[in-house]
Amino acid sequence: MTFVFHGFTVFVFHFKLEAMSTHINAPEGAIAPNILLPGDPLRAKFIAETFFENPKCYNEVRGMYGFTGTYKGVPVSVQGTGMGQPSLSIYVTELFKFYNVQTAIRVGTCGAVNADTQLRDTIIVNSACSDSCLLNQRFGNMHYAPTADFKLVKTADSIAEKMGIRYQVGSVASSDFFYDKNENWKKWAEYGVLGIEMESAELLTLAAEYKRKAMAIMTVSDHILLGGQTTAEERQTTFTNMIKLALDTIVAQNK
Ligand code: HPA
Repeated sequence: MTFVFHGFTVFVFHFKLEAMSTHINAPEGAIAPNILLPGDPLRAKFIAETFFENPKCYNEVRGMYGFTGTYKGVPVSVQGTGMGQPSLSIYVTELFKFYNVQTAIRVGTCGAVNADTQLRDTIIVNSACSDSCLLNQRFGNMHYAPTADFKLVKTADSIAEKMGIRYQVGSVASSDFFYDKNENWKKWAEYGVLGIEMESAELLTLAAEYKRKAMAIMTVSDHILLGGQTTAEERQTTFTNMIKLALDTIVAQNK
């Protein structure tokens, strides 16, 4: 648009500020290429306000907060995904399809299913099994193996080792049930799965579909086999370690 002001022609540029997708109300360029994905939107807010430099909120639709800032100078975003694979699927599809997100790390909690895994342990997820019908709908009677990006896993592994935290690299199972009367976890445990959660398989599958990089990092919040839950204070410390591990992995990838 142009108009004439005191004899001079003035150009007014119209920036595209409208939202680009249904569930994320952010303009083009408001979301960084690297993103952390907690299930809980209040965790997204906490991560941005605690760890980011200059955090700015880009999404409040349905209370599913999204923020962008920098961490150690690297642009990074954090977006709540809600609980369960269908909810995560909505947000991650929009992030990949409309906002050009390239690297996504889910940060969440899981329940442990074997005696070698303890409460508060960190799990770097290299693959995710699932009992969800989302995989059936995509693959029918074929069996896809949702797999994390190897470089992300390798980088997180070396950072976790340097941090000196208790951690394992392995698979989780993304269940559609939190309250699972079938006790599917017993079968997963027999096959070496380390923890049960509800979102990672869909994230890794979408990353494959859109040719992006993804991984998940979990802390063990409850022990399904042995019983017991972490206290709020313990959850805070392990949560902080997990977020630092995820953010330092992103920084290392951007060097
Ligand atoms: N089951 C499913 N999801 C979970 C659990 C669990 O025990 N703990 C944390 N997320």
